[in-house]
Amino acid sequence: WIALVLCLCMFSVSCLALTGCSSVGDGKKIIRIAHSQSETHPEHLGLLKFKEYVEENLGDKYEVQIYPNELLGSQKKAIELTQTGAIDFTLVGTPNLENFADVYEVFSMPYLFTSEEAYHAAMMDTDYMDKIYESTDEAGFRVLTWYDVGSRSFYAKKKIETPADLKGLKIRVQESPASIKMANAFGAAASPMSFGEVYTAIQQGVIDGAENNELALTNNKHGEVAKYYSYNRHQMVPDVLVGNLKFLNSLSDDEMKVFKEAAALSTEVEREEWSKQVEQAKKIAQEDMGVTFVDVDVQPFKEAVKDVQKEMLADNPDIKDLYEHIQTFNAKYEGKGDD
Ligand code: GCU
Repeated sequence: WIALVLCLCMFSVSCLALTGCSSVGDGKKIIRIAHSQSETHPEHLGLLKFKEYVEENLGDKYEVQIYPNELLGSQKKAIELTQTGAIDFTLVGTPNLENFADVYEVFSMPYLFTSEEAYHAAMMDTDYMDKIYESTDEAGFRVLTWYDVGSRSFYAKKKIETPADLKGLKIRVQESPASIKMANAFGAAASPMSFGEVYTAIQQGVIDGAENNELALTNNKHGEVAKYYSYNRHQMVPDVLVGNLKFLNSLSDDEMKVFKEAAALSTEVEREEWSKQVEQAKKIAQEDMGVTFVDVDVQPFKEAVKDVQKEMLADNPDIKDLYEHIQTFNAKYEGKGDD
């Protein structure tokens, strides 16, 4: 069946590339959204809400089709398809945007947010974030909304309790300069690759582990091949829904309003699902997959990367404003939700 999926995938990509395939017989435009998660993942459920709302309000003009499971390629590839307008939207982690707008490097900083509350409040400050979301306009796409995918920690075949345990371990990171810098700063050997390659790379021993949220263990089955998940919580990196700018600009004001409302609703649904599923994922990983969750002392991990924020700020002035904006949320929630 892999051959069949590949075949279908190649067919759809070439169909998109050659013809655009953008409307069906009844004159409706097909809106295609690609993402990398499974159909039970909170993000897929959020996108179903997006589809429902757009079709409820503009169903005579648009039909929304969702392509999960990297069916149209890795996140990098899906961004290219969104840039050219072969598809209309895709959902990616912010590290994928760093090459288009380096302001997004800020989210790769280790221990940027000091509490979940600060993270959520900063991302929900839509007036401010909308300005950031325009920073990829030159590349031909714009962010519409964000999705919560929790916090990231290291997991591997062997137990990691202190930063010293990371020394020399090959750890997969997302494909961005700041992600590589982050893992190397912890003493690991950063190994950038696309999300879809991680399972096999751990299984075959090409890498020793990776870093991600708990759903990577269950939804993406990494818990089958890496049995220790260490809660060092070095990052909270959002995923974002990006849309082809030409398409967004082609919408009337009323239509744009509907798409924006649909995006906001999808975030609401996704976030509710996320908080439910993250608890379930931990249970499934522990009980069904035999994963051990290690509650590490976070302080030495923070200590190991204490200069990285300063270095990144010195190297990249574009992150300064957003960084300082985030600090106001950190200060506001200090002591109320710190790890
Ligand atoms: C998370 C995130 C994905 C991302 C992945 C990764 O699962 O939700 O968007 O691709 O991490 O590490 O690549």
